[in-house]
Amino acid sequence: VSVFCEDQVDSTNEWAKREALQGAPSWSLFIAESQTRGKGRKGRSWFSLPGKSLTFSLLIRPNLSLWSGFTSLPLVCGLAVSLALEEEGLEPEIKWPNDVLIDGKKVAGILVEGDFEAEVLRYVVIGIGLNVNLLREDFPEDLRLTATSLLEVSGKRHHRLFLLENLLNKLSKCLEGWKGEANLASLYPELKKRLATLGKRVKIAVSDKVLEGLAEDIDLDGSLWINSEGERKKISWGELVTS
Ligand code: BTN
Repeated sequence: VSVFCEDQVDSTNEWAKREALQGAPSWSLFIAESQTRGKGRKGRSWFSLPGKSLTFSLLIRPNLSLWSGFTSLPLVCGLAVSLALEEEGLEPEIKWPNDVLIDGKKVAGILVEGDFEAEVLRYVVIGIGLNVNLLREDFPEDLRLTATSLLEVSGKRHHRLFLLENLLNKLSKCLEGWKGEANLASLYPELKKRLATLGKRVKIAVSDKVLEGLAEDIDLDGSLWINSEGERKKISWGELVTS
């Protein structure tokens, strides 16, 4: 792994993408103590605090020629984060498609961005934000009901560098299991076990529609099967509104 470290950047994902275009190799890690424009999914911002959060992006260049494998990637990363947190004595769950929760609240966010050229994936940037040692009052008010930190759930401080190292190990293992295929393959059982979404009623925004139903199962390619008024639908990309 080549590691690049800065005190402050706009967003580690944006930084990693800029470096990717300049030829940075696969397995380059971009880590910053603070982000001025930390990005979440769907144009949202990502809140973090220097010294207390972990914000980094990993650039990989998988051998991937199809969109299909891309769909399962956030889940693969969610599994890696969960495995690392379990070694901290915690019980995380994965909210489809890419949040990691503890006690029903978000503890980590994952933002996967890929650059495709004529259907060929040139690189992928995996951005991970983890709420490590934040106190309840550190979060802005609008996040207090939905977000949590490792400190808050375990009552103790966690070592960010050990965590990072472990996270990278788990990412490496999970990405190896995934191999850029459409199929979640060997990771499927481990992933399904940790998926908080299954068995719950969900609302999912897909383009301009909202689909409502019971989340019944997950497909081998990472898509969610929902039962909407007796009709089974497969959803591969969307936004979970409530669960
Ligand atoms: C989400 O839950 O919406 C995804 C949040 C992803 C946040 C991380 S923090 C490191 C990386 N850099 C960013 O700007 N975003 C990701």
